[in-house]
Amino acid sequence: MDMLTTLASSTLLGQSAPTDDMRAAFLADVTIGLAYPQKAVPPRWFYDHQGSELFEEITRLPEYYPTRTEIGILKAHGADIAALIGPGRAVIEFGAGSAVKTPLLLDRIAPAAYVPVDISGDFLRESCEVLSERYDTFPVIPVVADFTDPVELPLAVAQEAKLGFFPGSTIGNLTPSEAVELLRAMRETLGDGAKLLIGMDLIKDRAVLEAAYDDAMGITAQFNLNLAERINRELGGTIPVEALRHRARWNALDARVEMHLEATRDIAFEVGGVRFFMSAGETIHTENSHKYDSASAATLLRAGGWEQQTEYTDADEQFLVVLAQAA
Ligand code: TRP
Repeated sequence: MDMLTTLASSTLLGQSAPTDDMRAAFLADVTIGLAYPQKAVPPRWFYDHQGSELFEEITRLPEYYPTRTEIGILKAHGADIAALIGPGRAVIEFGAGSAVKTPLLLDRIAPAAYVPVDISGDFLRESCEVLSERYDTFPVIPVVADFTDPVELPLAVAQEAKLGFFPGSTIGNLTPSEAVELLRAMRETLGDGAKLLIGMDLIKDRAVLEAAYDDAMGITAQFNLNLAERINRELGGTIPVEALRHRARWNALDARVEMHLEATRDIAFEVGGVRFFMSAGETIHTENSHKYDSASAATLLRAGGWEQQTEYTDADEQFLVVLAQAA
């Protein structure tokens, strides 16, 4: 268990103010990350209130195809997916459920229970309000936990067969070796006989990929720059945000879109009493979004302890939804 896990598990659903410990963890991540030759800040700090709202907006942008494409796949193949999964499973969603995606699954499979797992109690509470109102045939049991480690599931679902649900290509925000570790943790959480329904974004034309992470309206830029603003707001940093620009570029070697904040001139600033310098053109690496093809997706899953059962894609082969079973 890392520090964040401990904090989150001891946080009751319903409390929301950032704790001193959260702030200390944020400060440590930023000051350590900015000391590397390639400056980097871990992406989990994107999601303060403003960051979460901006991310919602991103999912509705014309350039950002993954959300609507995955929804299209779940709609088009829902009956088939449901037949393969069968009724009576406890659905464990990794991340707070979406009011759009989650019902596409739950409405069709007659689950035994729905258990969303998220490190943010706030997200969970909001999404559970919507989802538990919709269902009265099975319990909705939120769990606040960091699912990068195996999660202790509620006793109420201990005896049920499990289905893991991990949409949104969130697996792509991890490096392949981190992704394998996560898949193994999920395998351990879900147990023998489990299935996993997971969304992964496909490798495609560079221009399409880069536009998805650098939209014409500049929402993704705002989302990325909000991280620097948050450092100033919450940690008393002095980053001259107007001297940073959003960059999204396809790294073909690592099959990922990288997001960076690039200094447009030489700058100096302070965070937590530590002084940092960036020369013009230098960047802070803020996010990766790894893309797969059908073969590399199956390989990744196998390395993580899962055997691919079926895969579904859209007509333009932009996105992949895989149903896998515990190996
Ligand atoms: N996992 C999604 C993706 O990589 C969503 C996401 C995570 C995202 N971080 C992001 C989208 C930053 C845009 C910008 O596409």
